[in-house]
Amino acid sequence: MRVGVIGLGYLGTTHAVAMAKLGHEVVGFERSSNRLEALAAGKLPFFEPGLESALTEVIDSGNLSFAASPRDADLCELYFLCVGTPQVDDTGKADTSFVFAAGLELAAVISSETVVAGKSTVPVGTARELQRQMSEASGFEVLLAWNPEFLREGTALEDSLKPDRIVVGSSNSDSKAGGAVLRCYESLITSGVPVIEADLETAELVKVAANAFLATKISFINGMAEVAEASGADAVMLAKAIGYDERIGNKFLRTGAGFGGGCLPKDIRGFAARAQELGVAEAVGFLSQVDQINKRRRQRVIDIAHEELGALSGKKILVLGLSFKPDSDDMRDSPALDIALGLAKAGAEVSVHDPVALDALGERHPELLRARALDAAFAGQELVVLATEWKEYRELDPEVLGKEVAVKTVIDARNVLDVESWQRAGWRLIALGRNVHKN
Ligand code: UGA
Repeated sequence: MRVGVIGLGYLGTTHAVAMAKLGHEVVGFERSSNRLEALAAGKLPFFEPGLESALTEVIDSGNLSFAASPRDADLCELYFLCVGTPQVDDTGKADTSFVFAAGLELAAVISSETVVAGKSTVPVGTARELQRQMSEASGFEVLLAWNPEFLREGTALEDSLKPDRIVVGSSNSDSKAGGAVLRCYESLITSGVPVIEADLETAELVKVAANAFLATKISFINGMAEVAEASGADAVMLAKAIGYDERIGNKFLRTGAGFGGGCLPKDIRGFAARAQELGVAEAVGFLSQVDQINKRRRQRVIDIAHEELGALSGKKILVLGLSFKPDSDDMRDSPALDIALGLAKAGAEVSVHDPVALDALGERHPELLRARALDAAFAGQELVVLATEWKEYRELDPEVLGKEVAVKTVIDARNVLDVESWQRAGWRLIALGRNVHKN
């Protein structure tokens, strides 16, 4: 199939590459000329394991080409809308203006046979309004489907090529729109990926409900961590114990500094704002608690630093990790970056290390000292905070590093360090949600 992908951010780039790998003739559309040039040259403007080599592969095979706008290329049979829906302001609402702008631009070039499939995460009700506006602009009933994406950063391509499920919502009675999307995924469906065919509203809601559930699971265990810290219990052991119950499951119960990134925080706020507009705010009222618990975990790390060091002014602190999760250089709403900035704001001399995100940080936040070499970063530090669970941090040697620092205190804000070996090496280890520090 000839497939267009509009908006080449994280989602769009991954989707375009994935569709090209499935053998489709894909055109990626992107307004930013810098981004477009980089991608056309096979350069990924963000870090994602395995994606850059796949990008080069599909460019070389001729399956992926690029253009600034759908106006600049031959018509495609199916267009995926992958533009961003950032949070507007403190109300938490999602900004859908890019979705409507891209849809209306498309309405001027498509035919009544062309199918448009939205993949962006949108407030429920957006798709139907988009279809109305696009149909009004084009003069025919636009074939619109909604096909939410569930990929995770760090495993984006694999998630796109081996999804847990494919959800397709459509409103047209002849299901032509949904049918074209399913044809595009035919090889995945033949290999056994489950398909849910739904209406537009359900498809939109599946995405935000899934992210709301994941965020709730994390805040649930972090709420338990607060109780554990107050009572002397161990939230890591608690998560393990409850996770054996298959109804609960052990995934997404890692206690620590909480969730961040471009999706979970924004999506729960957007969901709560939309529920309020629909007059059912109370139905998802718990999401504001989920958000608050999540933010409190970041503050908790700063509070522990105060408890350990007293006034932070001039204190040397090393923060390990900046990205919101390992295998990503994304620092949007990152707990690690927030913690580093919070410590710096309190007057500490904060050094930051991250295996990939320092480049993405660029010139921003000059108050954070860049530590490029991990080993050298420990010299003279009075406190070490592990804020993102990169593999290299799990493998640190506490004996060797103990000789470098001024004070052997580490806050494990992701619960990944081996408590025994760090304590054996004489470190005071403080793990979020656990009462493990003995010295
Ligand atoms: C999330 C969802 O997991 C994807 O399914 C969804 O497609 C995506 O958002 C999206 O909406 O586009 P992602 O933002 O890549 O994916 O990150 P996650 O793997 O969900 O992790 C989110 C945050 O939760 C990270 O900061 C991570 O460190 C934290 N986390 C995760 C925990 O604190 N504890 C856990 O047990 C799991």
